[in-house]
Amino acid sequence: MSKQIELKVPDIGDYKGVDVIEVFVKVGDVIQKDDSLISLETDKATMEVPANTGGVVTEVRIKIGDKVSEGSVLIVLDTDAAGTAVASPAAPAPVAAPAPAPVSAPAPAPQSAGSAAPVSIEVKVPDIGDYQSVDVIEVLVKVGDQVGKDDSLLTLETDKATMEIPAPQAGVVQSVALKVGDKVSEGSLVLTLLASGAASAAPTPAPAPQPAPAAPAPVPAAAPSAVAPAPAAAVAAAVDESGFQTAHASPSVRKFARELGADLARIKGSGPKGRVVQSDIQAYVKGVLSGATQAVASAPAGQGGGAGLDLLPWPKVDFAKFGPVESKPLSRIKKLSGANLHRNWVMIPHVTQFDEADITEMEAFRKQMGDELKKQDLKITPLAFIIKAVVAALKKFPDFNASLDGENLVLKQYFHIGFAADTPNGLVVPVIRDADRKSLLELASETGALAAKARDGKLLPAEMQGGCFSISSLGGVGGTAFTPIVNAPEVAILGVSKSSIKPVWNGSEFAPRLMLPLSLSYDHRVIDGASAARFTSYLSQVLGDIRRLML
Ligand code: COA
Repeated sequence: MSKQIELKVPDIGDYKGVDVIEVFVKVGDVIQKDDSLISLETDKATMEVPANTGGVVTEVRIKIGDKVSEGSVLIVLDTDAAGTAVASPAAPAPVAAPAPAPVSAPAPAPQSAGSAAPVSIEVKVPDIGDYQSVDVIEVLVKVGDQVGKDDSLLTLETDKATMEIPAPQAGVVQSVALKVGDKVSEGSLVLTLLASGAASAAPTPAPAPQPAPAAPAPVPAAAPSAVAPAPAAAVAAAVDESGFQTAHASPSVRKFARELGADLARIKGSGPKGRVVQSDIQAYVKGVLSGATQAVASAPAGQGGGAGLDLLPWPKVDFAKFGPVESKPLSRIKKLSGANLHRNWVMIPHVTQFDEADITEMEAFRKQMGDELKKQDLKITPLAFIIKAVVAALKKFPDFNASLDGENLVLKQYFHIGFAADTPNGLVVPVIRDADRKSLLELASETGALAAKARDGKLLPAEMQGGCFSISSLGGVGGTAFTPIVNAPEVAILGVSKSSIKPVWNGSEFAPRLMLPLSLSYDHRVIDGASAARFTSYLSQVLGDIRRLML
């Protein structure tokens, strides 16, 4: 005889008419005592209501959006079907201490009590393709656990894939034949299961392998739930999607993290090879809710502060194991510029806009001038023209001649232009002051002098300060495009690559033109893509017709 009992909302304090925001069970589910049935949300708290006894769900009386109070009937349970029920009073569990994840797997079909006697079946590793001796990296069940059909039993990992082995049917785990670190192949015994009301031992369905994080390909998130439940706000604050997808965790752990809105990318794994396991997520969630862990790291724009990214430690490798090596300390300049570049790269949302300028005529003019200037021992390179053109563009687009200061943009009315200079000790950025007031020849001689000083290590600090906008010219070296890093607190930087002759359509034919590649990186908090495209296209026009510099 089956015994049907109603499970009701227990004492939930003074709350009445509370919103049901999630229902974790459906008809046919085999549930255990303390499994979460529903999630309730008031204006002050989210709470899960656990089952106070186990059994098979025969009726679900509520749905998302319903309002419930103490005593409202949630589900009807056949307590004989699963045979494990021990009734006890239950109180809603706060979300901070999550109950075991409501099973993700499709539930077995409803079984009426006594339809078949429980039988003990052996669950073996099913067909896992060509893999042999695969590492067991996680055992997800223990003796006495009640599992639903398709619940994950263990996780295997090869160098190319992780896969979970699902339960072929629902039942209670009688013995577990494997432990973490064991190696298995198709047919290896996983566990024995007292299958609830099983008529026959169905074969274990084949797992769906996923690329492992260790493989070059990024890991797809395992079936992320389309609608994440409303977890505690602090935990859900910000999920780094790409980090989440590449985090080292099994599909069921990913699902659990999704359900709690926990960002896997921020959770340190305690499992084998740094794998994130369920208890890591629980500890993280508790930490966030207690204030001990920060869910999001951020620093207000332009107000300094470091971003606590909580990244994995840098890999420590004994390179000498693989061949002879020599260790050489970084130069002082490299250490300084490295720290600045790192901060700028991390804190500024960079975008790079690419363009080309037709400098055929500019170069003809420069060459012509160059012959005359040789007599005066002066050299003019494309850089002087580019500085002139940049000043013209900054006058036309003042947002590029600016710095962020908190919520204000400081627009500069002077035009001090920095240019990156390659020196034996590393990169420095001398600044040409008041470039708008200098002639081409003055700019050429000043860049030459500053570059020479930089190479000799004789630049004064004042000669590297006050810049509004920087130019990084690699034209003398080579390359077709690159993405320079904005030199904070400036908001944009122009990268210049090596010019080359290209066939350009002039309306009736292809003509050989000398094209100069431009790469403008900018701070997207200040500059939008359309402005950047206008800026580079204006720059191209000016460089394409240097008479415009006189306007
Ligand atoms: N396309 C083709 N040729 C170019 C060019 C360009 N965009 N820019 C310069 N050249 C040519 C010059 O005309 C010169 O040729 P020439 O001697 O036949 O006249 C040659 O390349 C070398 O020029 P260079 O000495 O580099 O002078 P410059 O004025 O172009 O650059 C510095 C001066 C200081 C910017 C440059 O020496 C430098 O250090 N560049 C590296 C910057 C850097 O490291 N940036 C990376 C930051 S991430």
